[in-house]
Order: sequence, then structure tokens, then C-alpha cells
Amino acid sequence: MTEPSLAESRLTLTRRYRFAASHRLSAPTLSDDENRRLYGKCNNPFGHGHDYILDITVDGPRDDNGLVVERHALDRLVQTLVLDQVDHRNLNVDVPAMVDVVPTTENLASAVRSMLEADWPLTARLRRVRISETERNIFELEASDR
Ligand code: NI
Repeated sequence: MTEPSLAESRLTLTRRYRFAASHRLSAPTLSDDENRRLYGKCNNPFGHGHDYILDITVDGPRDDNGLVVERHALDRLVQTLVLDQVDHRNLNVDVPAMVDVVPTTENLASAVRSMLEADWPLTARLRRVRISETERNIFELEASDR
């Protein structure tokens, strides 16, 4: 077996971003008691904020300059498609991709993936979206097969 060339070896890069946003978790199909039981503190009536950590993982071969992706290009993309939409926003009302769902971080991860996949111009592939809501709640979503 021959060793794959450098250009054929795929590797991943995970780049970290941060944003703050507020939400209130409340399912319209449940009673007040059921919502309190299900969502706990995240059901508090007037909402609250989280400092989210967003890790975006891409993969691909190294280019001639030894990079999987040009960092500035990835940063601009994430800034425009995601951070500008969610940072310092109320996820219940300010983010079009979230208005029809309860703004759990599961649903937020799915919305972020859709925002990126809708307009992904980079050669490196989107591989994974990971969002840390708190130190103990970390959500990962693989990219869609495309
Ligand atoms: Ni919360």
C-alpha cells in the first residue's frame, strides 16, 4: 500500500467562537407546570442569557500553503452567517431560523448548521457544529450528508 500524498490526507480544524444570547424555553403544547418541570430554570418567565461557545469543525486536505482552510475566510463566513444573526439577540424572537421552535440549544445547533450549509463557499467541508451552553451542556451536530 502506498502512503497517501500530503494533498490526499484529510484533517480537521476546529475553530472557536463566542456569542451571548437570551432565551426562554416554553413549549406552546405544554401546560405551565409541565414546562416548568421539563425546562427548569430555562423556563423562567422573563428569560435569561447564556454565554455560548460555538466550535466549528471543517475538514479537507492541506492546500499548497499547508492549510485546511484560510482562517480569515472561515471567520468572515461564521461572522456573517451566524454571529451577526445570534449575538446579543433574543433567540425567541430575533432569529428567523428559530421563531417556530423552542430555542433549546439542540434546536440552536440545528439552526446554526442550516445557516452555514445554506451558503457555504469554502473548499473545506463543514464537518460539525458544537455549541456549549454551560460547562455541563455541550451539543454536537454532524454536518448533513451532501
Ligand atoms: Ni437557558
